[in-house]
Amino acid sequence: MHIRPFSPEDITTLLVIYNDVIATSTAIYLDEPISQIELQDWVDTRLSKNYPVLVAILNNTVVGFSSFGDWRAKPGYRFTVEHTVHIAREKRGHGIGGALLEALFPFARTLNKHVMLGVVDADNIGSLRFHERYGFTEVARFPQVGFKFNRWLDAVFMQKFLNGAPE
Ligand SMILES: CC(C)(COP(=O)(O)OP(=O)(O)OC[C@H]1O[C@@H](n2cnc3c(N)ncnc32)[C@H](O)[C@@H]1OP(=O)(O)O)[C@@H](O)C(=O)NCCC(=O)NCCS
Repeated sequence: MHIRPFSPEDITTLLVIYNDVIATSTAIYLDEPISQIELQDWVDTRLSKNYPVLVAILNNTVVGFSSFGDWRAKPGYRFTVEHTVHIAREKRGHGIGGALLEALFPFARTLNKHVMLGVVDADNIGSLRFHERYGFTEVARFPQVGFKFNRWLDAVFMQKFLNGAPE
């Protein structure tokens, strides 16, 4: 397995991975699949800001991706980013997500970012444990702010200080 920057031909596989997560889980608060144009816009927005979009390659196939973008638009939030990581269903649990998440940290530090945030659905225990494993701490839990599959969802904010926690 190796990690490399996104390349234009990766878009179709990223779309399959992303839309499978939408269809089968509460990890993404979307009900309908997104289009290739929407995903390409998402990628282009990140690349235009010099933010990384990384893919994991196993046997010449894209099996996961990671990225980060601005958390909120106002300039005071410019040192905080929100990341994304998704792995193809059949490739989970083999260290690929961890490698893709860790690969984001040097990019964020080089860009002088201070905080990385992940928004995790409270039912996604695997992802909560996953983030803790890489130094993220739960800092907020918002009850019933989401709705999918005909039920309310709680969102958990997981935070990591990129250069170590303050005193
Ligand atoms: C969450 C996700 C990105 C993790 O990637 P992964 O490749 O499956 O995870 P890894 O194999 O790299 O796991 C690294 C560590 O995370 C923890 N972890 C990962 N999955 C876990 C699970 N289901 N339960 C408990 N701990 C888990 C473990 O500590 C693991 O370390 P270990 O193998 O040494 O015990 C991946 O499972 C995924 O894409 N899930 C579906 C979409 C999703 O939830 N995305 C995240 C949205 S916030």
